[in-house]
Amino acid sequence: MKLKLLIVEDDSSIATQMKWALAQDYEIFLAEDRPSALEILGKERPHVVTLDLGLPPYPGEVKEGFMALTEMLSQESLVKVVVITGQGEKDHALKAIGEGAYDFFCKPIQIDELKVVLNRAFYVSQLEREYRELQQQLSGESFEGMLGTSPQIQEVFSSILKVATTEVPVLIVGESGTGKELVAKAIHRNSSRRKCPFIVINCSAIPETLLESELFGHEKGAFTGAHIQRKGRFEMAQEGTLFLDEIGELSPALQVKLLRFLEEQKIERVGGREAIVVNARVLAATNKDLNQAIKEGKFREDLYYRLGVVTISLPTLREREGDVLLLATTLLHRYAHENEKKVTGFTTQAIHAIKTYPWPGNVRELENRIKRAVIMAEEQKVSPADLELDFPYSKYEGRGLKEAREGLEKALIQKALAKNKGNITKAAEELGVSRPTLYELMERLGIGKEK
Ligand SMILES: Nc1ncnc2c1ncn2[C@@H]1O[C@H](COP(=O)(O)OP(=O)(O)OP(=O)(O)O)[C@@H](O)[C@H]1O
Ligand SMILES: [Mg+2]
Repeated sequence: MKLKLLIVEDDSSIATQMKWALAQDYEIFLAEDRPSALEILGKERPHVVTLDLGLPPYPGEVKEGFMALTEMLSQESLVKVVVITGQGEKDHALKAIGEGAYDFFCKPIQIDELKVVLNRAFYVSQLEREYRELQQQLSGESFEGMLGTSPQIQEVFSSILKVATTEVPVLIVGESGTGKELVAKAIHRNSSRRKCPFIVINCSAIPETLLESELFGHEKGAFTGAHIQRKGRFEMAQEGTLFLDEIGELSPALQVKLLRFLEEQKIERVGGREAIVVNARVLAATNKDLNQAIKEGKFREDLYYRLGVVTISLPTLREREGDVLLLATTLLHRYAHENEKKVTGFTTQAIHAIKTYPWPGNVRELENRIKRAVIMAEEQKVSPADLELDFPYSKYEGRGLKEAREGLEKALIQKALAKNKGNITKAAEELGVSRPTLYELMERLGIGKEK
């Protein structure tokens, strides 16, 4: 199939001469004026156009030609326009380049030279198109290290881009392992603060007594053991972003201090007397239902509204249509490469298991299972047993999705607990959920800790 070339030329003898000389290499379309040129551009979508600047109704001037140039580029931004001008009109040609033409050529036309110019124009156009396609593919599947083509996750990507450039706090909510921390990093990296620190603190991982000084710092002698003055995470995040993970675990006293910061951009070190102005953007995440916590009086409503000016809700893996296989396959290849294992894919049964399993621990659980499967696999294809997803599905068939899912979750949690002799931390790790999440699940499913 020949490449398409549009020749815009009102002098029919020149047009015929060009067509005759170039027809061997290209599929040629001719237009005599601006409207027909635009029409052909829209219909045939040639990648390259030669454009005579002197077109009717003003063949002696260049304004019609320039108008055609602008309109063609706005209609097809990747089209390569080679401008053809009369002799001694080089300044028009240069002006045209300034307006987006790809190259120029002066009459009388030397066909051999023109062929070289056109050849190169087609080549550049091809490269640009390939590059754009590649970029579209990349941006479609991966965004800041996050994979996913489902509409659910694509919406998250677009929210990230929307909020990144603003200064408002963002509350990121979603089940365990859905990617909340990745979202926070993506917001930071797409913001004007990207060159400044991104500081993370997990509010549930630090005992309450230490958390205050961890967050706000302390003065020398503020409490026993405070031998030196120390800056807290807020001050470390100066000019940057502070990510408060598991915000639902914050104690009432610290909620007040955080609220004050959000209202006044000021903090006080523990044992300190003066307020310190801090310029940090706050992002917070939780897998708890904060509305419920507010009802129970555990979380301040005013803080909730301050933090959640914008809320980004992450979809669970089971809600993300089609993404689980994309993620599973990408991760399988990544880990196979890292571990130098010759694992090439999944068996049909494994694919079925991946698609039906409810993934309570979301992407983190998927990562853990695939990592382990790649290491354990003895065949080239990963089996359900390698993924430890070889439990009796048939038992749950025909029971309705919710019941089947809960049955499976219960069975899996009991299995993990038994295997780890009731050690919640280890069981949670194995299941790819956080400890609080596992507690919640156990409570919901009526599983006793003593098992
Ligand atoms: N869309 C995604 N594409 C690729 N990897 C992802 C995606 N979402 C999450 N992950 C990976 O899954 C793991 C869990 O993500 P992350 O730590 O951001 O989740 P989280 O919501 O903060 O979980 P938790 O509530 O347990 O803290 C990470 O290793 C992360 O890289
Ligand atoms: Mg997290």
